[in-house]
Amino acid sequence: MKNYLLSTIFLVICVSLATCQVPRWGSCPDIPVKQNFDADRYLGKWYENEKFFFIAEIGLKCISANYSLNNDGSIKVLNAGINTRTGRPSEAVGRATIGEKEPAKLSVKFSRFQPAGAYWVLDTDYDTYSLVWSCSDFYFARAGCIQRAGTYRMERV
Ligand SMILES: *[C@@H]1O[C@H](CO)[C@@H](O)[C@H](O)[C@H]1NC(C)=O
Repeated sequence: MKNYLLSTIFLVICVSLATCQVPRWGSCPDIPVKQNFDADRYLGKWYENEKFFFIAEIGLKCISANYSLNNDGSIKVLNAGINTRTGRPSEAVGRATIGEKEPAKLSVKFSRFQPAGAYWVLDTDYDTYSLVWSCSDFYFARAGCIQRAGTYRMERV
């Protein structure tokens, strides 16, 4: 299982480096996501795993994401990070909606003037780790947080 997971990660990283240099919605390769994703269990605070930083950050370093429920059933995303130029803490608030066919394929918006970005949960045990895929780095640039395309890993602390 562990080996399978690792090879999936490396496959995803390779695919992302090859195909996701240009920010474009709709260019996501069809990769398997977490089955029967349970958004309720996913809520709460997650921290990024530094070891998985592999594409240069642009100005902001993300530290944590806090997911909570909005009144309309969507998910509130509160990303907290540090501005790498000023060293000051900074935040970005977004809204995530759960995928209709596959709940693990979430889309996230940080402003109503931008298209939604992909936030796909590839695997998670809800308690300790989550592997997340995104291939639209457009959303990252606007979110001011996690400026990477590809897979990243988050942890509960
Ligand atoms: C996460 O956000 C919710 C809603 O804004 C807040 O009530 C909660 O205290 C936050 N949790 C943490 C761990 O910061």
